Amino acid sequence: MQDIDIADLKRISELIHQKYNYDFRNYAMSSFKRRVLRIMELKKLTVDTLLKKLTDTPVFINEFLDELTVNVTEMFRDPSFWRVMREEIIPAIMLNHKQFKIWHAGCSSGEEVLTMCIMLKEMGILQDVTLIATDLDVNILERAKTATYPIKNMELNEKNYIRFQGSASSLKDYYREENGNAIFNRELFANVSFRKHDLVLGEIFNKFDLVLCRNVMIYFNQSLQNEVLKKFHESLFKYGYLAIGSKESLIWCDYANRFIVVNNEEKIYKKIKD
Ligand SMILES: C[S@@+](CC[C@H](N)C(=O)[O-])C[C@H]1O[C@@H](n2cnc3c(N)ncnc32)[C@H](O)[C@@H]1O
Repeated sequence: MQDIDIADLKRISELIHQKYNYDFRNYAMSSFKRRVLRIMELKKLTVDTLLKKLTDTPVFINEFLDELTVNVTEMFRDPSFWRVMREEIIPAIMLNHKQFKIWHAGCSSGEEVLTMCIMLKEMGILQDVTLIATDLDVNILERAKTATYPIKNMELNEKNYIRFQGSASSLKDYYREENGNAIFNRELFANVSFRKHDLVLGEIFNKFDLVLCRNVMIYFNQSLQNEVLKKFHESLFKYGYLAIGSKESLIWCDYANRFIVVNNEEKIYKKIKD
């Protein structure tokens, strides 16, 4: 197995920043290193040939990004989180607004958005919610839009759905099987727009009642987590909610005192100060 030093990782992230305007310079070094090494192994590249390929072959960047970002996700991931969403957070938002907006930041292949849509449909309010789902990786967004997943993934998704205690007898009520795939009912995505958006370099583009950014900031270093939390703060209405991943925390961030913890176990916060 090859190794790579910090100076070479910096050369790679500087090149990507200058040539392609993606900024990985403040990603957590250990996972960035693991991903770069994995790409080098998969593509049989050395540091020099990787740099050359990134310089000479612009189409390689999308493939590179797809491998560099960690896209692992599942439906009803952390079922207890979704039960709290259904029983506490969404009802609390609805006390003040009949119609509201949700942002899924770092939505990957769309399982989390689909989960939200199924839950909202079961609550009878899907038509009242506008959802925007964003990711840096355009390849993964194209996959997300299809709402189509390998049938082999459905065993875990179904287990999560049972633990969530959904109102249908099975997730099968929401999809049909074709050529080894589960193709979900496209109507579930009627109010969803998928867009490319970079949390590091992208602008704030709307105001939301709820932002989900789960299992994304774990790949950022502390200073980038601070910057991104500031963007979420600005993107939320006052008293809006922010949900992050179960292994993540806001407590070290500069903007932490503008939020209160609503549910520590499920990492759900509420903006209390502008
Ligand atoms: C592990 S997935 C999380 C998926 C989903 N939120 C979940 O918890 O199951 C992380 C996603 O964050 C995206 N991502 C990484 N850096 C990003 C950035 N700077 N801007 C937007 N998305 C980013 C990746 O492309 C990837 O799809």
